[in-house]
Amino acid sequence: MAFTLAFPKINISGENAITELAAVIAAKDPGHGLIIADAALDKLGLLTPLCEALDRCGLTYSCFTDTIPNPTVSVVNNAYDCLVEAGADYIIGFGGGSAIDTAKAVKILSGNPKPITNYTGVGQVKHVGVPLYAINTTAGTAAEVTSNAVITDEINKVKCVIIDSNIIPDVSVNDPSIMLGLPSDVTAATGMDALTHAVEAFVSVGAHVLTNHSALESVRLIAEYLPQAVDDGNNFEAREMMALGQFLAGMAFNSAGLGMVHAMAHPAGAHKNLPHGVCNAILLPIVCEFNRPHRVEEFAKLAVALGCDVSAMTQEEASVEAVQAIRNLSKRVGIPRGFSQLGVTEQDVAEWVDSAMADPCAGGNPVTMSPEDVLALYKKSL
Ligand SMILES: [Fe+2]
Repeated sequence: MAFTLAFPKINISGENAITELAAVIAAKDPGHGLIIADAALDKLGLLTPLCEALDRCGLTYSCFTDTIPNPTVSVVNNAYDCLVEAGADYIIGFGGGSAIDTAKAVKILSGNPKPITNYTGVGQVKHVGVPLYAINTTAGTAAEVTSNAVITDEINKVKCVIIDSNIIPDVSVNDPSIMLGLPSDVTAATGMDALTHAVEAFVSVGAHVLTNHSALESVRLIAEYLPQAVDDGNNFEAREMMALGQFLAGMAFNSAGLGMVHAMAHPAGAHKNLPHGVCNAILLPIVCEFNRPHRVEEFAKLAVALGCDVSAMTQEEASVEAVQAIRNLSKRVGIPRGFSQLGVTEQDVAEWVDSAMADPCAGGNPVTMSPEDVLALYKKSL
């Protein structure tokens, strides 16, 4: 079967990547820009280096800094109104997954009619809209790499997962120097999200030789450097390796797909507004335990990438060790042990089963789950 590999045309990674981006934009005679950013990052002054870089290149821009975690339809509409009022010709998304997903949604509306919920699913975006430059500030959702945007329909309490190569940013930027100030809990949650991307991509039904190396190297980098980045946010090497690790995970899952961890995490975010990375981190070892017997060889390889000494183990034993190593890493970086610690009840999870089954990520799971399987795994995750 033919395999499609998709990613941004240009990626700029490393220190001073933002300065490089400003030069790339300026070279295109781009017109007026709209920055879509996390309010928290603006308050921390993290937007300043970007604005200074754009100023030095003589670029004009407006700002929308009212993005929120788990961005909603109304936030997307407000940001789109801002694009229209400013007469902006391109967008710069600046932040983690929430800001960049908002920017992707506004890009969609710049070329296609409202509502944004119409584009839920795969390949529903006909027109590319205005150019999008995505600066990632976490490591990470890899939203700067991917064709995915997740927008919460706050009225129907459902996450709309939009997957379309037309929303892949034109240029993606990973500058570890702007990740230094991130708090440790955000570092842990976003890092475990990246690990989930790599693991799900590696065992998914869409896994391919063109994505497997990225996924395994991502797992290796995250296992080694996530604890260091959580312990000391100013450890530049750890931040840089995490930025690259999450980027590799994004390259892998953007083409190989995800699985039931994400499918089951999305309803948790939509109903309880819980951080995406935390939901994934709680569910990852539980779903892996379910999938492992069907992907023994792959999980044994993951054990090596996770840093386990498997030299005296059978493949079966090594695959079990991988799941334990994921559990250990999650605990090491301070992820809550289960959803009940976050106020989720048995009644809540029972209401999430249908959404998880219908989620576009579910199709990537190596084993098809029944609603009873999903409910059992949700109960384990409490
Ligand atoms: Fe994710």
